[in-house]
Amino acid sequence: MNAKPLHLLAISGSLRAASANTAVLRAAIELAPSEVTITLYDGLAELPHFNPDLDGEIAPPAVVEFRRQLAAADGVLISCPEYAHGVPGSFKNALDWVVGSGEFVDKPVALINASPHSTWALASLTETLTVMSARLVDEAAVTLPLGSNRIDRETILADSGQADPLREGLIRFSRWIISAKS
Ligand SMILES: Cc1cc2nc3c(=O)[nH]c(=O)nc-3n(C[C@H](O)[C@H](O)[C@H](O)COP(=O)(O)O)c2cc1C
Repeated sequence: MNAKPLHLLAISGSLRAASANTAVLRAAIELAPSEVTITLYDGLAELPHFNPDLDGEIAPPAVVEFRRQLAAADGVLISCPEYAHGVPGSFKNALDWVVGSGEFVDKPVALINASPHSTWALASLTETLTVMSARLVDEAAVTLPLGSNRIDRETILADSGQADPLREGLIRFSRWIISAKS
């Protein structure tokens, strides 16, 4: 792989402290190729409810920071749970803040599905990101066979059935981004 460093922003769609989706992204930080750095976005709970009236010349500080982190990333990793057959409201809220500002336009995105039975949220997220003109990288999408037991970063890293597909997905995502840049 090209030695030029890549920077990815990882966004979990769950606010839960013990979130399986966040655990997957924490594991991804450890499993990334050496040239790739991953930052876990931690501002989801700070974003105000989306209101176009608040999005004037000066957007709320949490929104400015979210947009800055997205703009600075070479790609975005998303792992999002399903709530009532849809995307959790707090995560859809975050996406709504960047529809008009355009940080997802042409941005490479890899979707990680930590709940193989949760197909509605994945389909909805795919549609939303597509209409926002993100570059969904199909070959980097990963579905992990996470069980219903308590999942944390260490259990994922210790289980090759989880860690290997995640590591391979990150390699494919990095290669895709590098080849798209060249
Ligand atoms: C309010 C609520 C609604 C949910 N709805 C669904 C659903 O429609 N389909 C599904 O597969 N799981 C559903 N779940 C289960 C979550 O998707 C699952 O527990 C997931 O692991 C939560 O992600 P997290 O561990 O990252 O917080 C729901 C959970 C909650 C709290």
